[in-house]
Amino acid sequence: MRWPAKRISETSAKSFGMYEEALPLAKRGVDLIHLEVGRPSFDTPAHIKEAAKEALDRGIVHYGEFAGTLSFREALAAKLSARNGIDVGAGGILVTNGLTHAAYVSCMAALDPGDEVILLEPYYPQHINKIELAGGRVVTVALNAADGFSIDREAIESAITPQTRMIALVNPVNPTGRVYRREELMILADLAIEHDLIVMSDEVYEMIVFDDNRHVSIASLPGMQERTITQFAFTKAYAMDGWRLGYLAAPEFMLPALTKISVNDVAHVNVFVQEAGRVATSSSQDCVYDMVAEDCRRRDLVCERMNAMPGITCAIPEGTIYAFPDVSAHGDSRRIARDLLDATGVVTEAGAFYGTAGEGHLRICFGAEPYERVAEAMDRLERFFVERKPHAVGGL
Ligand SMILES: Cc1ncc(COP(=O)(O)O)c(C=O)c1O
Repeated sequence: MRWPAKRISETSAKSFGMYEEALPLAKRGVDLIHLEVGRPSFDTPAHIKEAAKEALDRGIVHYGEFAGTLSFREALAAKLSARNGIDVGAGGILVTNGLTHAAYVSCMAALDPGDEVILLEPYYPQHINKIELAGGRVVTVALNAADGFSIDREAIESAITPQTRMIALVNPVNPTGRVYRREELMILADLAIEHDLIVMSDEVYEMIVFDDNRHVSIASLPGMQERTITQFAFTKAYAMDGWRLGYLAAPEFMLPALTKISVNDVAHVNVFVQEAGRVATSSSQDCVYDMVAEDCRRRDLVCERMNAMPGITCAIPEGTIYAFPDVSAHGDSRRIARDLLDATGVVTEAGAFYGTAGEGHLRICFGAEPYERVAEAMDRLERFFVERKPHAVGGL
């Protein structure tokens, strides 16, 4: 008997990277410090938890609207208009199970078999499966570490063919920590309009932005709202990764197709979770600012400590919860991440996990452990890199 198989690329099938490699050590009781998983270390703010409990007590436990509770979508529409410059109204919003589900639904609704999708490298690997499951083909475009992984018009344009349908964007960027400037996004917008492409924009880190950097939604640029599906989630900024709550904003004419995929997948998102999302959206955002301030403190610690280690250069992340230091003087990134794990118990992710343009780097998540544990990880990393010495390229 032959079971049907969906084609999934090698790269994306190995989607858990060093997290998986660390599991046997965790079982042996090794004192691991997890700087590999993009998971906030904070608890969900109390008023959001209370809102979910109250919703259950009020009997919000039955089937709801497929696209999401109307009052929640109205609150989201107000937020999208005020914060993101996206004016879709409740009719242009679909509530989803986190950003993952929003991206899946977008790919399934917007791609036809054979369509090519441009993915900027270093990429977020989890988008690869979704594009492929929809029958699309991933075309990677490597951005250059030397110019801070900036949007490169020539490189992107040379990858566009008559089959290109979509550009998949992540902004702020996991894994590089970049927040694209408006001018960079205008280059992308220009290309999308000129070649009649859709943009799928993953903005899960929209609120985790540091210093004077500003997050701009590409859909807010002239001519882009009608060709962009923008995805958001409560996952990172509100420390709600386990709640599985997100949403997308799209041109209203795309909503029937997007909703059709979502309905067949999950019917709709849990109603009491949506009520908590409504309260999170409509109440004070101070809890988010406090968490971002703490992320920023950890970022500063990681950058200062890593830049003082031999042979390492760590660009200052403009947003997200990731630093992406250049460790190429110490050898191959997968080898370094593995050796680091074995020698120190600090779990990091190899830059190569995010495509060949990420090679020579490590991804360090500074948002997943409390400040003191991040500091302890930096002590361990320093001992490791001092002992290894930059010239010891080729491994221990
Ligand atoms: C760029 C990016 N998109 C999507 C996700 C997944 O988000 P969610 O947990 O809301 O599905 C992550 C999580 O790390 C991410 O980094």
